[in-house]
Amino acid sequence: MSPASVNTPVTAAQAQLENKNDERIPEPCVVVIFGASGDLTKRKLLPALYHLEQAGLLPEDFAVVGVARRDLSSTFGPDMQDGIIKGGGVEENDPKLKPFMDKVQYFATNFDDDAGFEKLKAYLSELDGKFKTKGNRLFYLAVAPEFFADIIARLGKHGMVASAAGNGGPWVRVIIEKPFGHDLESARKLNDEVNAVLSEDQIFRIDHYLGKETVQNILVFRFGNGIFEPIWNRNFIDHVEITGAESIGIEGRGPFYEKAGATRDVLQNHLMEVLSFVAMEPPDSFQAEAVRTEKLKVWRSIEDIDLKNAVRGQYAPGTVDGKEVVGYRQEDRVDPNSHTETFASIRVDIANWRWAGVPFYLRAGKRLAKRVTEVNIIFKQPPTRLFGNSAGSDSIEPNVISMRIQPDEGISLRFGTKIPGPTTAVSPVDMHFSYAAAFGKSSANGYERLLLDAMLGDATLFTHRDGVEATWALFTPLLEAWAKQGAKGLEFYKAGSWGPECADKLLAKDGRHWRKQ
Ligand code: BG6
Repeated sequence: MSPASVNTPVTAAQAQLENKNDERIPEPCVVVIFGASGDLTKRKLLPALYHLEQAGLLPEDFAVVGVARRDLSSTFGPDMQDGIIKGGGVEENDPKLKPFMDKVQYFATNFDDDAGFEKLKAYLSELDGKFKTKGNRLFYLAVAPEFFADIIARLGKHGMVASAAGNGGPWVRVIIEKPFGHDLESARKLNDEVNAVLSEDQIFRIDHYLGKETVQNILVFRFGNGIFEPIWNRNFIDHVEITGAESIGIEGRGPFYEKAGATRDVLQNHLMEVLSFVAMEPPDSFQAEAVRTEKLKVWRSIEDIDLKNAVRGQYAPGTVDGKEVVGYRQEDRVDPNSHTETFASIRVDIANWRWAGVPFYLRAGKRLAKRVTEVNIIFKQPPTRLFGNSAGSDSIEPNVISMRIQPDEGISLRFGTKIPGPTTAVSPVDMHFSYAAAFGKSSANGYERLLLDAMLGDATLFTHRDGVEATWALFTPLLEAWAKQGAKGLEFYKAGSWGPECADKLLAKDGRHWRKQ
């Protein structure tokens, strides 16, 4: 039986080691993180870089520079080490930790300071000498979105973006965090500003959902197996549910969330990425252009979102995990009359030969009953009802393939089976694959793969300009209509519930209901 078989558990480290490919070790380089004083750097980026180091996937000649406005030179290193230990599940005395931390540097500058950028440029050259990093740079913009264009313009102005990668010279790439724009117009403008300085192959627009093993596995499940793809279409599938439920609230990010809301924060990007993997045609290779082309075709085939097929809500006070929590309007730095949605749900219709007539229902929300990100493929019922359930009715549950993205990562198949005994009643049962049981628990946070790919210049799991604009084109009319409506149509839900009633009604009007979690 193969080591990856469900019945032969291997540890995560073992699996990763076996999966290691020396061709996937990047060239020497410096990773320069703008906005390094923010949460993301400590909680995700440094732990992810360290996980790569542990797995032997970083080049020997390597350095990380955190850039931020404040002078944190004395605290940055220890703070990042703390993040690696606590956030990355790393032992304090891990033998690789100290040598890795010696490569972590800090540089303070304002993002609008030309003299500061000149000094940064000189500093990076100095590091090239010290760490033999050969002029290769991966800039990571982990800053508030209003700084993206300015920082890139300044990098251009100070001659820090010229890439000679095609000629075997040093390469320069830039990772841009989300949100990429707040509507179609702003996304286009930002794309223009970024493209004025960088060529498209230098730009890596990140959506951390694509770094998740379970999201990538959607493609492996579909296209790496022979038995699922033939039934992956309108002939067999009744509908698809994609849920991005969180039990956390806005976690002190009031000013950001007031402008974002659940639609801009999660639906337009994370869930649309997941949808594209579920719905796309098989690409002709696993190369960036082929994958992006197929994703784009899906997004462009989506019909305009009908206002009747979109609902929104906001959390009111309630109880989550046994603790009383405030409502959204009582959160710090949130307008007490805010109309921002903390929950949004839509029905999406994809007008192509594979999916016509199969609704995709998406929902995303904060302060819901529990954290679960899941895709459910609900199949059509058998054409005749030969059997009933134990209550004597002929209503039996449909087959469902559930892809659990997080937590308890795995896949299950629900099917009906005969209840032992003298009747022929059917009961639903689940066949389950668990990542943790098969491969051991992993402390990877999803940024590992994306950082590694960007260092290697592989953009397959990053978003192209056309893709960002296509998803904004879909959501912008809806967001504008909601903005006009203000409070009209915004429904409140108790924190700790499964969201507003309108979300249930959205499916009920089509004779369907959300799968129980
Ligand atoms: C971020 C959003 O992009 O994704 C957050 O800004 C959200 O609001 C987070 O909580 C969810 O990510 P994950 O990986 O925890 O599902």
